[in-house]
This record gives sequence, structure tokens and C-alpha cells, in this order.
Amino acid sequence: MITELTHPVIKTLINQLRETKTDALRFRHIVHEIARLMAYEALSSEPLKEREIETWNSQRVFEFIDEENLLFVSILRAGLPMIESVTALFPKASSGFLAMRRDEKTHQSVIYYDRIPECRGKTVILLDPMVATGGSLCDAISVIKNKEPEKIISLNLIGSPEGLDVVDHKHPDIHLYIAQIDEKLDSNMFIYPGLGDAGDRSYNTPE
Ligand code: PRP
Repeated sequence: MITELTHPVIKTLINQLRETKTDALRFRHIVHEIARLMAYEALSSEPLKEREIETWNSQRVFEFIDEENLLFVSILRAGLPMIESVTALFPKASSGFLAMRRDEKTHQSVIYYDRIPECRGKTVILLDPMVATGGSLCDAISVIKNKEPEKIISLNLIGSPEGLDVVDHKHPDIHLYIAQIDEKLDSNMFIYPGLGDAGDRSYNTPE
């Protein structure tokens, strides 16, 4: 299932990312903000669990998200600013990393590092700003499915309709939240109008 977020603050932040004058520091800052807003939305029906805590006047029971059940997985390298911001919300959540690179000729994704911990019973939240052909995300979801999580949520900032269709057809059982569905995939397999390469923009890597 795919949900496009419609919040005007999110739309404004996405469009600020498109501006070439947005430098790497500001770019990462905006990605932090959008990722956090998306996490609020994606976890809006997460069950709450009671826990007894000590407060200023007594021991009391209050409700919390079971953050130890959350596992955030960042797709390197563009997903790094996203994981920084969402793990700050849930310091007891665990994190995993999957490094993927799109072959510039074949446009196929290649996995070159997998540091995803045990997923059984967990809510896994995948973080990658971009869905172009959808190939990287499909492969990442397949890797995680093999580790038998309870459920998979994907948070993505910008995507092409074509790539999102591919992901939805191949993995209809995951819930994908996207901040902006753009116009199309162009002939170079880039999101159009898009915002450039989120990894390069985040870290000032020359092309
Ligand atoms: C980008 C992006 C996705 C992938 C999307 O990463 O962050 O992981 O491309 O493309 P796809 O949907 O066609 O598979 P990239 O390969 O540029 O690596 P990077 O994060 O190191 O920049």
C-alpha cells in the first residue's frame, strides 16, 4: 500500500530540497525534518504499551510505543540523514544498514554491505529518500523479508510513479509512505523533475 503525504509543510520542505542553492548542511537538515514528520504519520496506529515510571510525585503507569520493537534500516548512503533523525526520537530502537548502489549502465541495484540485525517479530522501518526505478527498494525489501519481521514500513521522500508501481506490485504487503510522487521517470532513469542525487546533495560528493 502506498500513502502520499499531503501536508503543506512536507510539500514546502520537499520543494526546498529541489533548489540547487540548498547546500549540503541545509539539505540534510530538511531531510531530518521530513523523515521525522513521516515517522509520526507512519507510526500513528502503533500500539502503546504500559510501563511504570517514576515521576516527580509518585510511581505511575503510562503508555509508550515499544521502541525496542522498532528496527530502522537505512539504505546507504542517502538514507543516513533519515536514520539520524528518527533514531533520535527512539533511542532504544535498533538500527541496521544496507549498502546499495545503482549500476550506472544497467540501472540494477548491487548490494555491497549488509549489516541488518535479527528482524524476527520486529517492525522494520526502511529509510531511503528516493524511489526511481524501484529496483533498490524491491531488493532491500526482499533482503528484509528473508529475516522474517512482523511488518515492514518504508519511508521515502520522493519517487517516480513508475518505480512506486513496481514496488507496490512486487511487495503489496508493505506500507510505503512517500512525501512526493513526482511526474515521471526520465529516459536516464532519474526521477523528474526530482531533486538530483540525494546522496551527492547530502554530502557534497562531486559527480
Ligand atoms: C539512489 C537512492 C536509491 C536508489 C534509487 O541511491 O538513494 O537507493 O538510487 O534508485 P532505483 O529506484 O532506480 O533503484 P544511489 O544508487 O544513487 O546511491 P547513493 O545513496 O550512494 O547515492
